[in-house]
Amino acid sequence: MIQKQKGCNDIYGKDAKIWKYIDSVIDAVMEKYNYTYIRTPLIEATELFHRTIGTSTDIVTKETYDFTDRGGRKITLRPEGTAGVVRSFIENKMYGDASLPLKVYYNGTMYRYERPQSGRDRELTQFGMEILGSDDPLCDAEIISLAVNIYQMLGLKEIKVNINSLGDDASRLKYREELIKYFKPHINDLCEDCKERLEKNPLRILDCKVDAENPLLKNAPKTLDYLNEESRDRFEKVQEYLDIFQVKYEINPNIVRGLDYYNHTVFEIEAKVSGFGSNNVLGGGGRYNGLCKQLGGPDTPCIGFACGIGRLKTALELEKVKLPITETIDLFLLYVNDEEKKYAAYLSQELRLAGFIVDTEYNNRSLKAQFKQADRLQAKYTAVLNSTDLNNNEIKIKNNKTKEEEIISLDAIIYYLDEKLNTNLDDEDECGCEDECCTDDHCDKNCHCHH
Ligand code: HAM
Repeated sequence: MIQKQKGCNDIYGKDAKIWKYIDSVIDAVMEKYNYTYIRTPLIEATELFHRTIGTSTDIVTKETYDFTDRGGRKITLRPEGTAGVVRSFIENKMYGDASLPLKVYYNGTMYRYERPQSGRDRELTQFGMEILGSDDPLCDAEIISLAVNIYQMLGLKEIKVNINSLGDDASRLKYREELIKYFKPHINDLCEDCKERLEKNPLRILDCKVDAENPLLKNAPKTLDYLNEESRDRFEKVQEYLDIFQVKYEINPNIVRGLDYYNHTVFEIEAKVSGFGSNNVLGGGGRYNGLCKQLGGPDTPCIGFACGIGRLKTALELEKVKLPITETIDLFLLYVNDEEKKYAAYLSQELRLAGFIVDTEYNNRSLKAQFKQADRLQAKYTAVLNSTDLNNNEIKIKNNKTKEEEIISLDAIIYYLDEKLNTNLDDEDECGCEDECCTDDHCDKNCHCHH
């Protein structure tokens, strides 16, 4: 039997419904913040990631899926979304648009050749957002608050926002030198990877998973002590806006992030629910003001965030968040003979177009087996299409829970189902949520209805 590749997942059934629901919340929240959707290719020139993520990051040295295509081009499956967005921004000259900053979001598959374990996949799905073309600290706070808002709209409560600042280039350089000075005498106490990181990218040592518990890391110099005045002021402004957005956060000087491109604000959002294990970072991001220029574009300040949807789904499961997933269907149509089957086909189509979730029998099973199928599909109503009733323009509908049956005119079926299921198809604003706020265009409650 051919099996799926290590670290990849098949998503189907209820999981797929949850996944689609998460996507719908992301789309709805992004729309409110006025971010537009961007879709960039899964494959990019290998060079893009070597120049953006940094040649000394684990992702580029060990974790990318690289191959040479039939035309001899060096190609990489994207390990993250930011580099592709910046490439597209430059290539499509979006920087020329007068309406900058550009606020975009994406939701797609990424590939990292990691050692698969819980929360660490080789094929992962990330949603992420980027603001290109503004250095305003308001953008930093907006991105963090937007990420938190998505988690909250989904019903997650146990999250923690950790923020830090790496400062501008001058502050970062000073800090880098200080770190090298600090770690150099202890080089033999570091893991093999960190020994290599010391000269190339000492900040990454602080992010090391192997050395995480090493007291040497805990006592290392902190970024915040090396920020120049400008960087410190900037970081304070970010915090002021976060307070205005009422986002709770903690300043955590150990957040340095794994990718090379960051400066100023960096942040990670953790799941605090127990049972998550060590890969409890739901998402992370930061400012990357130098990247666009480094890729041959104009000097453009940018900030962004990305979250792994797999980890997000795990957090929702561990917190036992009840999601409004429809697992039931409105009506199952049963039949015995071919004439009735044709009517089932006709009626199911009519009712689906009217907005109901309708299914019917496909395998010509016995009526008994069809009733079992209706139960498996959790049909709220069933109707056995009987030729005599149909000739009288009637249909017998049964409430599958109370088992009550009614014979109604076929002409009234839409009205009947609408009333019984309380779907209110006439009222476009009504989404079935019991909260009154749903009909209010300016609803700001977390009622999961997104209208
Ligand atoms: P990152 O921290 O590499 O940042 O990844 C962001 C999130 O993607 C992680 O917090 C995690 O939820 C998820 N993730 C990463 N690797 C895996 C994996 N192997 N399996 C499952 N989930 C994973 C970035 O990717 C940056 N592009 C974020 C960013 C956007 N910075 C600025 N703009």
